[in-house]
Amino acid sequence: MNIKLVGRINLLTLLIAIVSLFIASSLFSAEGGPCKDYGPCDEFQPELNNLESLQRGASIYLNYCYGCHSLQYSRWGRVANDLEIPEDIFIENLVLDTGVKMGDLMVGSMDKELSKEWFGVAPPDLTLVARKRTPEWVYTYLRAFYEDSSKTYGVNNLVYPGAAMPNVLAELQGRQRLTCKDIPIFAANGGEKRDESGNTLTEEKCGYLKVDANSGSLSVDEFDSFIFDLTNFLTYVGEPSRADRERIGTYTIFFFIIFTVLSSLLYREFQKDYH
Ligand code: HEC
Repeated sequence: MNIKLVGRINLLTLLIAIVSLFIASSLFSAEGGPCKDYGPCDEFQPELNNLESLQRGASIYLNYCYGCHSLQYSRWGRVANDLEIPEDIFIENLVLDTGVKMGDLMVGSMDKELSKEWFGVAPPDLTLVARKRTPEWVYTYLRAFYEDSSKTYGVNNLVYPGAAMPNVLAELQGRQRLTCKDIPIFAANGGEKRDESGNTLTEEKCGYLKVDANSGSLSVDEFDSFIFDLTNFLTYVGEPSRADRERIGTYTIFFFIIFTVLSSLLYREFQKDYH
C-alpha cells in the first residue's frame, strides 16, 4: 500500500469518527437534559476556597445525610484538616459516633441490607456523586422534591423522577408542590400575541415548583444558600485537592507568561547581533 493511500484511509477514519460523534451527541440531547423534567439544571459555581461555606456544608451533611449516605473514600482527619476545623471541635460536634478515629474512612453506619429492604435501593455512597452527576445536577436535585401522594414517601423529584429518597429537608424548605401558571403566548416572530383590545394572550402551563408561603423554617433564598453550602461540600469531597490544583494552575500560567516575555526579550537581543 502506498503512503498516499494510507494517509487517505486515516483521513476517512477521522471523518467517520467526527460524524458519528455529532450523531451520538444529537441523539443524547434528544433524550432530554440531565435534569430531566426540571429542564436545564440550575447553575452552580463551586467556591472551594470558601472555608466557611465548606464547614457549614460538612455540618449539614453529617447532620442530615450521613445517617443514610456514607463518604467511604474520604477520611475524617482529611476533612477536618482541609476545612481547618480543630479536631476536638470536629469530634465533639460533628462526629456522632464516639468510636471513630481521625484516620478512619467515613464508612457510614447504615446496614446496606436493611436499607435496601426499607427503600428498595440502598442509599448510594456520595463521595463521588458530584463528579458522576455534576455539581449542577446535585444542586438542582436537592431543591426539586415536591409533594406527590402517589409515591411511598409522599414525594417525587423533578430531576430524578421516582427517586426512592425521602425528602429529608422538607421541614426546612416547606411544602413544595407542582403548580400551573399563565404564561404569555409568543407568535412566530418572537413577539407576545395580543387580542384586538391589546391584552396579552396567555396559556396555562404546568410543572412549576412552588413552596407554600411560610411552610418551612427557611425562606426560599435561605434554603438555596443552605443547599449551596451542602453541594459545595460534596464538590470538595469528590476532589479534595481541586482547590490546590487550581491554585497551582494559576501560578503555572503566570510563570509561562513571564517566561514568554523574558524569552522574547532575549530573542530580540540575539537578533541584534545579526544586523
Ligand atoms: C433516609 C435515608 C436518606 C437520607 C437521610 C438521605 N438520603 Fe439521599 N438517597 C436515599 C436513597 C434511598 C437514595 C436512592 C434513590 C434512588 O436511586 O431511587 C438516595 C439518593 C440520593 C442521591 C442521588 C444519588 C445518585 O447518583 O443516584 C443524592 C445526590 C442524595 N441522595 C443526596 C442526599 C443528601 C445531600 C442528603 C442529606 C441532605 C440525603 N441524600 C439524605 C436515602 C437518603
